[in-house]
Amino acid sequence: MNIRKAVIPAAGLGTRMLPVTKTIPKEMLPLGDRPSIHYIVEEAVAAGIEDILIVTNRAKDAMEDYFDYHPELEERLLRVGKTEDAALVRYTADLANITFVRQKETLGLGHAVWVARHFVGDEPFAVLLADDVMIAERPVIGQLAEVADEENFSTVGVQTVPLSHIGLYCSLDVEHMHDNVFNVFDMVEKPKPDEVFSNYAILGRYVLTPDIFPILENLTPGYGGEIQLTDALAVLARRGDMRAVAFEGTRYDTGSLEGYLQSVIELSLSNPKCGDWLKSYIKALAEQL
Ligand code: G1P
Repeated sequence: MNIRKAVIPAAGLGTRMLPVTKTIPKEMLPLGDRPSIHYIVEEAVAAGIEDILIVTNRAKDAMEDYFDYHPELEERLLRVGKTEDAALVRYTADLANITFVRQKETLGLGHAVWVARHFVGDEPFAVLLADDVMIAERPVIGQLAEVADEENFSTVGVQTVPLSHIGLYCSLDVEHMHDNVFNVFDMVEKPKPDEVFSNYAILGRYVLTPDIFPILENLTPGYGGEIQLTDALAVLARRGDMRAVAFEGTRYDTGSLEGYLQSVIELSLSNPKCGDWLKSYIKALAEQL
């Protein structure tokens, strides 16, 4: 499967990060000197994806501005010789062909993906959840695309999570096939303890065939009264049309306060602009704690 298109659902209300998300989209919260959505887009681009659709809502215009040109700022920077800064401003706008569509009502992740159906058309596509920032040697979505290509099925990115946390994710009924590839038979969103299949959960990365759209279209609301992507994927899994990849990489849940802080610290430690300084600062601080 040659994956050219990616959908990034980014229309959630960000309630886990209030009050800041009252006015700032959670995808625009900075992980150091760039917002989390920047990392998501860069991952898709690194996997060779050219066309990206970000599903937003009426409170998220800042994301559109971030991926647009800013002629006034660029001109000002160039006038004072700050060519590298001007190039950085342009870089974010030239990363990919990025378009936006609004999810007019917050009806759930499955609905947000369904909103992307006209953009996707009749070809396989990637889905990257904006909260899940991945740092990996090989882009995680690329790892999935390789398996989807070999197997010719929709493929989801999984890792094991502590059993005590599985209720925050989805839980998959899987069987190991080879290497890091699994067959998926079923799955359940936000399982209660007696519904848990395993501690394998999907962590925000999917390569899907357009078969998902008619399923989403006919889905009734699931967990939390929302149209759940997991419920539609379960239909594909029960048909035998799904694989999972235990991907390599570190995942940060930037939609939670702890995960957000972890990502800010760890990503800044590897940022050449401030990494060395931050390391000595943390060491000195740890001695006082
Ligand atoms: C969503 C998905 C869930 C998945 C999780 C990964 O949940 O619905 O299946 O395991 O992302 O981050 P949410 O984080 O929106 O509650």
